[in-house]
Amino acid sequence: MTSIQSKKLFLGIVGGGPKSWIGHVHRIASRFDDHYEVVAGVFSRNPKLSKKFGKSLGISADRCYSNYKEMAEKESVKKDGVNVVSIMTPPSSHQIIAEEFINKNIHIISDKPFAGNLNQAKKLYKKIKSNKKINYALTHNYSAYPMVRQAKHLVEKGKIGKIEYINVEYIQDWLKGINLTTKNAKKILKWKIDKKIVGASAVLNEIGSHAYHLAIYISGLRGDKIFADIKNFSKKIKGDANAQAMVNFNNQAKGMFWISSVPRGGVYGLKIRIFGSKGSLEWAQNNPGYLRFNPARGAVRLLEKGFFEADFSKKFTRVKYGHPEGYLDAFANIYKEFAKSLTAKSKKRYFYPNEDEGLETAKFIEACKISSRRKKWVKI
Ligand SMILES: NC(=O)c1ccc[n+]([C@@H]2O[C@H](COP(=O)([O-])OP(=O)(O)OC[C@H]3O[C@@H](n4cnc5c(N)ncnc54)[C@H](O)[C@@H]3O)[C@@H](O)[C@H]2O)c1
Repeated sequence: MTSIQSKKLFLGIVGGGPKSWIGHVHRIASRFDDHYEVVAGVFSRNPKLSKKFGKSLGISADRCYSNYKEMAEKESVKKDGVNVVSIMTPPSSHQIIAEEFINKNIHIISDKPFAGNLNQAKKLYKKIKSNKKINYALTHNYSAYPMVRQAKHLVEKGKIGKIEYINVEYIQDWLKGINLTTKNAKKILKWKIDKKIVGASAVLNEIGSHAYHLAIYISGLRGDKIFADIKNFSKKIKGDANAQAMVNFNNQAKGMFWISSVPRGGVYGLKIRIFGSKGSLEWAQNNPGYLRFNPARGAVRLLEKGFFEADFSKKFTRVKYGHPEGYLDAFANIYKEFAKSLTAKSKKRYFYPNEDEGLETAKFIEACKISSRRKKWVKI
């Protein structure tokens, strides 16, 4: 690894190939604040596909590698080699890939879970701690929401007192209305039912890690004891699908977790409630700009991202209060659709706002003005 000279960090990527949704998220996230430049990668286990995809991202052919070992080897001796590598491969490979780059003094951003199982996790932890030249980050992304940071801040300030109960629910319906059978299971769940790839537990590695991380992140507590009940997809389809867990934390607080990949119609839901001796906090990912603060005495408060009492959250938001955090993504959709419309070979329907809607908005505004002036109903 070279010393960091340019303003931007040189980023290498492992995983996140053509069909990986999270790969796209990582690449966007890396560009959001202009801190990184993606300069190298191995995006798929299939070398041909990896190179083709890398080139499609604008990475020079000689830095689209066949495998991560080759990438670590070559990038570490390059004068302008990668400073950081992002890993977004399935769980069981996180440890071996990270170690390869740690050995070359290259910083790591890895997607969760930390590793495929506890054994791998212990080895990886030791490896990270043994190299003082590298930093490591794990993308438990929910912890980076402004109002989650605000919640952590309030807990640290003692606003809800000593934590007594934590309740987390993380559900994701992976079946999308399909009845799972031994015939279609592999097609629907892919590597999630292959223990060698998903690691210790499908539902817990994939979403349970997020749920638990969120609880310990906000509360600052660590689990002491646990009682869990895990259900497989079915008798024949092995793989953890649903987990309920009771956790006793190290300060005697009690926790309850429901983590499920099979709640019919429960498309998506991550919710956390933390109760302390002086009050409680509630946050839901589907309404991420708000944090409910319920003092034991007095009125419930709905804190809003970046606004007055939620001042701490300002540090972690790029969008002004009143606008949801998805705002920037929506903005990018317009750019993308517009570019597509400019390069399309055939006529298609696009959904970006255009002049037709522009005129309608102007008519609306004018009508508002007239109506207000006349104090009457007016036609738009
Ligand atoms: N943070 C989040 O919210 C979030 C969301 C979704 C997925 N994830 C995590 O991201 C990881 C990947 O999940 P996914 O759904 O994108 O999986 P995926 O199967 O859709 O994509 C994985 C990609 O990695 C590539 N790959 C696998 N092994 C590789 C290797 N050794 N070298 C190079 N490329 C390799 C595959 O070819 C594929 O393109 C998992 O750990 C998952 O838990 C995190």
